[in-house]
Amino acid sequence: MSFPQRRSRRLRRTPALRRLAGETSLTVDDLVAPLFVKEGIDAPEPVASMPGVVQHTQESLRKEARAIADLRIPAVILFGVPAFKDGTGSQADARDGVVQVALRSLREEVGDDLVLIADDCLDEYTDHGHCGIVDPVSHEVDNDATIERYAEIAVTQADAGADIVAPSGMMDGQVGAIRAALDAAGHTTTAILAYSAKYASALYGPFRDAAECAPSFGDRRAYQMDAANSREALDETALDIAEGADMVMVKPALAYLDVIAAVRDAFDVPVAGYHVSGEYAMVKAAAERGWLDGDAVGLEHLLAIKRAGADFVLTYLARAVAERLHA
Ligand code: PBG
Repeated sequence: MSFPQRRSRRLRRTPALRRLAGETSLTVDDLVAPLFVKEGIDAPEPVASMPGVVQHTQESLRKEARAIADLRIPAVILFGVPAFKDGTGSQADARDGVVQVALRSLREEVGDDLVLIADDCLDEYTDHGHCGIVDPVSHEVDNDATIERYAEIAVTQADAGADIVAPSGMMDGQVGAIRAALDAAGHTTTAILAYSAKYASALYGPFRDAAECAPSFGDRRAYQMDAANSREALDETALDIAEGADMVMVKPALAYLDVIAAVRDAFDVPVAGYHVSGEYAMVKAAAERGWLDGDAVGLEHLLAIKRAGADFVLTYLARAVAERLHA
């Protein structure tokens, strides 16, 4: 007795058939490369928990951005590691701050070939490592004092040439405060990519090595989202869009594919997924041990994030994947 062959089976017989019938694809256009730039170092410094990722000098950053632009990756997102940290994160909006200097230098290097995104947060710049101004009495992050700082940071980043600012601190009203400040400063064309559904995740561990921003006390659970919740993500995202977010993000990506799908379904603005440091580190660590094929797993991760509904993916794999896609 023979059974009829299923249609899906007929359409997956050869690579060309699979490409033709595929619902989702991953292209270089879907990638955003996160880059770290550190003040006061002479040579790039490897990040132990993120093999292949470095803290750049201004010079090595420029070279990396050139290579990324030549691969036709459309965008980078910059994180700064300042030489000096204090309670208010004063270096975050310094005119000669590490990210402001980097933005000017990259604009000169790549022109409009790369979209320059600047992460707008305080944790890399505060001596306590929290994403905002900490109230001396309650030891909690003061939401309203913090969003004023984010607005100041955004303006200096736009002054330095950022195409997009990306507030990542999960403070209430941050998008509205930043939009108002950008407009008042004449930066009406600077866009906002809001980290709208950002979860309090243990998957950020390696990033905190790279950005030297682990909190010195407490954790971020009072301002970042609880992993138990997904409906709340729609609330957060709706408010960000109402305040003026041009694009929204779900972060991390893989453990939150349901959230990406729900956000995609509910809103029409571009949706980003952030394949975060811990997701990258897990793939790298297992591959180093020979336990899995890191390149293949990486591509599978990124494709899954797109299949869930993301329009683009922030990923430390961006350069390697682009090289493979061009090969
Ligand atoms: C905050 C910020 C973090 C990440 C991006 N922006 C760290 C945090 O919230 O603790 C994490 C990204 C990653 O893990 O790759 N400025």
